[in-house]
Amino acid sequence: MRKILITGGLGQIGSELTKKMRDIYGNDNVVMSDMKAKDTHKDLIESGPFEVLDILDKEKMGNVIEKYKINTVVNLAAILSAVGEAKPGLCYDVNMNGLYNVLELGREKDLSVFTPSSIAVFGESTPKDKTPQDTIMRPETMYGVTKVAGENLCDYYHRKFGVDTRGVRFPGLISNDTLPGGGTTDYAVHIYYEALRKKKYTSFIDKGTQMDMMYMPDALNAIVQLLEADPTRLKHRNAFNITAMSFDPEDMAASIRKHIPEFQLDYDVDPVRQSIANSWPNSLDDSEARAQWDWNPEYLLDDVTADMLEKLRIKLNIMC
Ligand code: NAD
Ligand code: SER
Repeated sequence: MRKILITGGLGQIGSELTKKMRDIYGNDNVVMSDMKAKDTHKDLIESGPFEVLDILDKEKMGNVIEKYKINTVVNLAAILSAVGEAKPGLCYDVNMNGLYNVLELGREKDLSVFTPSSIAVFGESTPKDKTPQDTIMRPETMYGVTKVAGENLCDYYHRKFGVDTRGVRFPGLISNDTLPGGGTTDYAVHIYYEALRKKKYTSFIDKGTQMDMMYMPDALNAIVQLLEADPTRLKHRNAFNITAMSFDPEDMAASIRKHIPEFQLDYDVDPVRQSIANSWPNSLDDSEARAQWDWNPEYLLDDVTADMLEKLRIKLNIMC
C-alpha cells in the first residue's frame, strides 16, 4: 500500500491532487504538507493528515517520513517561472536544494519520488513545433534552468542509487480550485474568472503566442498513471513530454464567446512573461508518453471552457 507525502500540497496542483489521491489510496495514507496552513483549504487540511513542512528543512522532512511510514513522495513544492524571474535566488534554493533533500531522503529511506518538470526546460534554440522528447534544452529562465537540472538529478538518483524517480514535463495547467502560483501560463486561468466577472479580459500574453496547455483532471490522471506505470516499460523516467492542446489568447476568446458572446479581449503585454512565453515551444510531441505508459488526455479547449465556466459560475455565484 502506498503511504504518500505531498509537498507544496496547497498549491494549484497539490490542492486537487490531495483530494484525488485520498480518494484512491485512503485519507490516512496521503499526508499533505506545505509551508503553512491556509484557511481557504480548511476542509482539505482536515480531511486527512497535514504537516507544516519547508522542503529546505531536511531533518523535519525525514521525521515526517518516519512518523507516517511514507514510501512515496510527490514533490510539488517549487517556485514557478514568473516569480522565479523576480526572485531567482529563492527559485534556485527551493527547486534545487529542496529537490536534493527529497532525493537524498529517497536514497536513504528507499522512497518512490515523483517530481514534475515543465515546458520551461526548453529555450529559443529548441525546435518550436512538435518539440521532440529528446532535443536541445537551453532554457533562458532560472525556473527552466532548475527544471532541466532537476530532471537530470532525478535520472541520476535512479541510475546511481536505484531510487524510483518519475516525472512529466507539464504544460500550462488550467483549473478552477486554487489559483496558479505565479507562472507565465496563468493568463489561461485568469481569463475565465474575468470573463464571468466583467465579460472582458486584458491579457498579459500577446495574441499569436501559442503555448501547450492541459486541464487539471488530465494532469492529475497523468501523475497517478505514471506513478503506477510498469517500470519495465519506462525509458524516460523523469522528463516525459505531455500535452493536451496548444492555443493562443484569441483561440481562448473564441471558445469563451460560444458561451458569453459579448466577451472582449484586449492586451497589455508584460515584457517579462511575454519573453518567457516566446522562448517556450508552440506545441510538444508527447508520443513517448503515449507509447510508454498509455498517456491519453481527455479535454480539448472547448471541453475545458464549458467545464471551467460551469464550475466557476457556482464558485463565484455568478448565474448569468
Ligand atoms: P504552486 O505555486 O501553485 O504551488 C507550489 C506550492 O509550493 C505552494 O503552495 C507553496 O506554498 C509551496 N512551497 C514553496 N516553497 C516551499 C518550500 N520551501 N517548502 C514547501 N513548500 C513550498 O505550484 P503548482 O502549480 O502546484 O506546481 C507544482 C509543481 O508542478 C511544480 O514543480 C511546478 O514547477 C510544476 N508545474 C506546474 C505547472 C502549472 O501550470 N501549474 C506547469 C508545469 C510544471
Ligand atoms: N505554468 C508554468 C509556468 O508558467 C509552466 O511550468 O511557470
